[in-house]
Amino acid sequence: MKAALISDFLLSRIERPEGRADTSRTSPLNVQVYRLTREAILSGVFEPGLRLPSSRDLAKELRVSRNTILYAYEQLFAEGYLETRAGSGTFVADTVPDQITPPQSKPTESFSTSHGLSGRGRKLVASPSESYSKWGAFRTGAPDVTEFPKKVWMRLQNKVWSRSDPELLTYAPRGGHMPLREEIAHYLQISRSVNCDAGQVIITSGTQQSIDLIMKLMGRGGDTVWLEDPAYWGSRSMLSTFDLDVVPVPVDEQGMQIQTQSDRPPRFIFVTPSHQYPLGTVMSLIRRRELLQYAARNQAWIVEDDYDSEFRYGTRPLASLQGLDEHGSVLYMGTFSKTMFPGLRIGFLVVPKALSEQFAMGLSELYRGGQVFNQAILTEFMRGGHFGSHVRRMRMLYSERLNVLHMAIGKHFGDYASIIDGEAGLHLTLGLPNHCNDRAISEQAKVEGIMCRPLSAYYANPDHGRRGLLLGYSCVPTEQIEPAFDRLARIIKRHW
Ligand SMILES: Cc1ncc(COP(=O)(O)O)c(C=O)c1O
Repeated sequence: MKAALISDFLLSRIERPEGRADTSRTSPLNVQVYRLTREAILSGVFEPGLRLPSSRDLAKELRVSRNTILYAYEQLFAEGYLETRAGSGTFVADTVPDQITPPQSKPTESFSTSHGLSGRGRKLVASPSESYSKWGAFRTGAPDVTEFPKKVWMRLQNKVWSRSDPELLTYAPRGGHMPLREEIAHYLQISRSVNCDAGQVIITSGTQQSIDLIMKLMGRGGDTVWLEDPAYWGSRSMLSTFDLDVVPVPVDEQGMQIQTQSDRPPRFIFVTPSHQYPLGTVMSLIRRRELLQYAARNQAWIVEDDYDSEFRYGTRPLASLQGLDEHGSVLYMGTFSKTMFPGLRIGFLVVPKALSEQFAMGLSELYRGGQVFNQAILTEFMRGGHFGSHVRRMRMLYSERLNVLHMAIGKHFGDYASIIDGEAGLHLTLGLPNHCNDRAISEQAKVEGIMCRPLSAYYANPDHGRRGLLLGYSCVPTEQIEPAFDRLARIIKRHW
């Protein structure tokens, strides 16, 4: 830039407080001159060696006081952006702009990195597992929300609105809306053989919050937690925010392999016995008994995540682990994310009777819950039989979609296809040969607009994890399943 243009450059960018309704939004003029000059140097607009006007001249041209310019220049000298050359004036320092680290911003950034996020926080956000896509082929775990009976929900919503009950619009009572707790207890007793009464049912905003509540109320620093390997990323993420020793425990075709020889028995054992996530194994009855006995002997708590038992397409689901327990050592978690819609954010915990009051109290103390209104509509939805008929209808639809996906896989891979989990739930897990890089396939599919989670990513050590792809079919319109899999198959074949 020509020296003569410097003042024009600054003049056109300075914001003056006069005439502004909100003067608090403009920085002082000395700070503005300093910042504009520094930015111009850093971006190379003011190149090294450029001679700046004297403070007196610049002040005149910018119509500011000389002190304003002196302040800005002094700051820039101190930070090394400007230098003087004996007898000849003020120049942009001879340092290449991008080698200059702006001393103002650098300390601020390193300050916020070192004092902002904790090590735990940094780890949590460093490798996020949440899906980038909430819908479409082959997003896992999402129900087909377009099929949700909205008209019924709207009718019930109007019915609830017409009640003049202030309780519905204020904070949630301890443990959640009692009529919903009653409905859930009733439903669980019948459909999942869970032993409970309404007082033991604690309404949460989903599985993540259920785990958070358990750990906040029961976890002690340094506790050992057994977590299935592979495991649901949501449980892993939540557990990683507590001071726990999380031990990955392998899963075989009977479920979690109980480490009876372990010299440090766990205080918590997290399992998905009805439908192992993501491998789909159903924990055998023998293994269930072993696990319950082991937990009772070692005073460990079993946390049973029963997230999608409503969707089994062949056999009926086994009763819950909680229902077999005779020692009150199971904390049972459920969710309406799959049966209703995830945005509803209603889940529940069933805790042993002895802990039910404390959990209800803890819930209110920690989260100050609300959403009683939605809880009341859900109560009506369940009471009126809509929940049951919606789940039955969805089960048929998902079963049909699963068949279409099975056929599409068969068409491309025939007998080579290894379907690890394809009998239940909302996704199918397609096994791949060990040499296949499932993460690379997933990345390439993403470019084509197809989402498929790599199985190896669910392991504590992904490099040693089994290779495969999780293919959600529940939220893919039936006619789109085959064409989407055709595109995915082309990518898989390149890696096969
Ligand atoms: C194993 C498992 N548990 C629980 C959930 C549900 O979590 P939330 O209730 O937070 O929606 C999911 C959802 O994908 C899951 O895969």
